[in-house]
Amino acid sequence: MLDKDIAKVLVSEEEIDAIAKRLGKELTAEYKDKFPIVVGLLKGCVPFMGKLITEMDMHLELGFMDVSSYHGGIESSGDIKITKDLDIPVQGRHVIIAEDIVDTGRTIRVVMDLMLYRGAASVSVVTLLDKPAGRVVSLDPEYIGVTIPKEFVVGYGLDYEEKYRNLPYVGVLKPEVYGSK
Ligand code: PRP
Repeated sequence: MLDKDIAKVLVSEEEIDAIAKRLGKELTAEYKDKFPIVVGLLKGCVPFMGKLITEMDMHLELGFMDVSSYHGGIESSGDIKITKDLDIPVQGRHVIIAEDIVDTGRTIRVVMDLMLYRGAASVSVVTLLDKPAGRVVSLDPEYIGVTIPKEFVVGYGLDYEEKYRNLPYVGVLKPEVYGSK
């Protein structure tokens, strides 16, 4: 039933599988002896992070934070709130922040700075989607699944008014779904 609201598929299930395998290999090569903490930013990280970590052949620890910026609309607001903090000390640890999308970069900037302030040995970012055209703060994720144009996308963790996160691919909504707003 979700398919009917989608105008076009931007990143297919098969492409996401291949991305997770590729990035999982790269992260394994870089971090296999470092016992990193993979920090997922809820809620959007869930499907991609879930797939990615199964492609990382190494010991790692999982952590989660909830940092909110969109508040249900289609535009990113500048107002960042940490609504759930990490419950693991990061002092001296290697942190990999896992995201579904980097858009303005504000969310990641806040989390990266916080991890470094708390004494993380290193902080890197892995994201399924990168939308560089949306950037308002300077930030280059180290591990990028795919670069996308400045379009509002849903699926594979990304929502519109909390819906469509469970779509098994990334797509663009038909304008009529949100056009009346
Ligand atoms: C979305 C997305 C990223 C962030 C990216 O999260 O999951 O975390 O926005 O935007 P930015 O680069 O402009 O900061 P959101 O705040 O909507 O929370 P969610 O993951 O629960 O949907």
